[in-house]
Amino acid sequence: MSEHEPVVEAGPGGDLAARIAGQRPGWTLEQYFYTAPDAFRLDLERIFMRHWLFAGALCRLPNRGDYVLYEVAGESIILLRGEGEAVHALFNVCRHRGSRILLEPCGHAERLMCPYHQWIYGQDGRLLEARLMAPDFDLNAFGLHRAQVKVLEGLIFICLAETPPDFGEVEADFGPYFRPYQFDRARIAHVERHVVPANWKLIAENFRECYHCDATHPEYCQAVSGARIHRNPRRGEIEADVEARWRALELAVKHVRFVPGRRHHCARYPLTPGYASWSVDGKPVAPVMGAHRERSGSLVGAVLYPNFWSESATDYATTTRVTPVGPAQTEVEITWYVDGGAEPGRDYEVGAVTRVWSATAAQDMALCANNQAGVNSSRYQPGPYSPYELDYRCDHFDRWYLGELAKG
Ligand code: FES
Ligand SMILES: [Fe+2]
Repeated sequence: MSEHEPVVEAGPGGDLAARIAGQRPGWTLEQYFYTAPDAFRLDLERIFMRHWLFAGALCRLPNRGDYVLYEVAGESIILLRGEGEAVHALFNVCRHRGSRILLEPCGHAERLMCPYHQWIYGQDGRLLEARLMAPDFDLNAFGLHRAQVKVLEGLIFICLAETPPDFGEVEADFGPYFRPYQFDRARIAHVERHVVPANWKLIAENFRECYHCDATHPEYCQAVSGARIHRNPRRGEIEADVEARWRALELAVKHVRFVPGRRHHCARYPLTPGYASWSVDGKPVAPVMGAHRERSGSLVGAVLYPNFWSESATDYATTTRVTPVGPAQTEVEITWYVDGGAEPGRDYEVGAVTRVWSATAAQDMALCANNQAGVNSSRYQPGPYSPYELDYRCDHFDRWYLGELAKG
């Protein structure tokens, strides 16, 4: 549909197909999608219950039996380290009468015992014991329900659908970028968890564009000169120059763009010339991470819709996990990683590692909260994206989102 065609109006309780058809390409979404409880339920059902979700990194579960819970889309998922690199993703729902089994957000479990009537499950979710049941009770028929799980270079992704979307292209594209970080044995330097008073899509859209960066992210723009989109005429030359160096270091450089139908993106881009790390003054903040050979003056950026992005330098990495909590409430978990052998105080200071991205994230969260407050207004109406927010940016995300919702 062109932007000159009339917008189809759909009032409260209106038809979803009409709402979707009424969205102008290149314009922000209508208020319903950012505020309505119905839209929020649809988002959980058609996006978060169906797509691959980032859950965490393997280094959070260093030993067999270590677990964390991930509460998402109304579900509680147990991520439990099994044999070797195996991770079990189990629905935290007892097969007897449905009680939650593990109640602490993280810990270690040799076996999983339901607190209600003490059924006992193995680490892989098989039912091992069910006391005082009838003699013909079949333990094998009552294992815990499993989610799909993929461990991609030490990053754990889960899918709550029985038939998950293909993950092969994501693995092939992300693999060369993430491999040198060795997330399986990295050290978690810091975790920040925020509940942001904004719809998850406002947060996703905010991260998709740098139209706002110049005026709002002084630390980020200082370290990543390319973020000043309209003030950097030499950007192309700088990138060509440094790309040759990255290739010599055998670093991944393939720019995987958001094109219609694709839900992931990855690229390497340069730090400000002369910057060794993504830090306030460009100085290194930690030892070179994992299998990286030397500092490359670059950042790796990767995104997977709907809930994951990563921005990572050579000496530290970050992941962001976005989890909708309510129509206008989203949990944002940011994790910083350093090399597994790095010691705090000796090899790095947490404050120096986190400074740029923590400041940037705080600025973004304030922008998103403010954005939501305005979107809630009786006078909010969709507005046109700038050329810096189109194509593989906000508009791509909105098109993908509406397409998934339309699948019913
Ligand atoms: S509900 Fe879990 S043992 Fe009864
Ligand atoms: Fe931002």
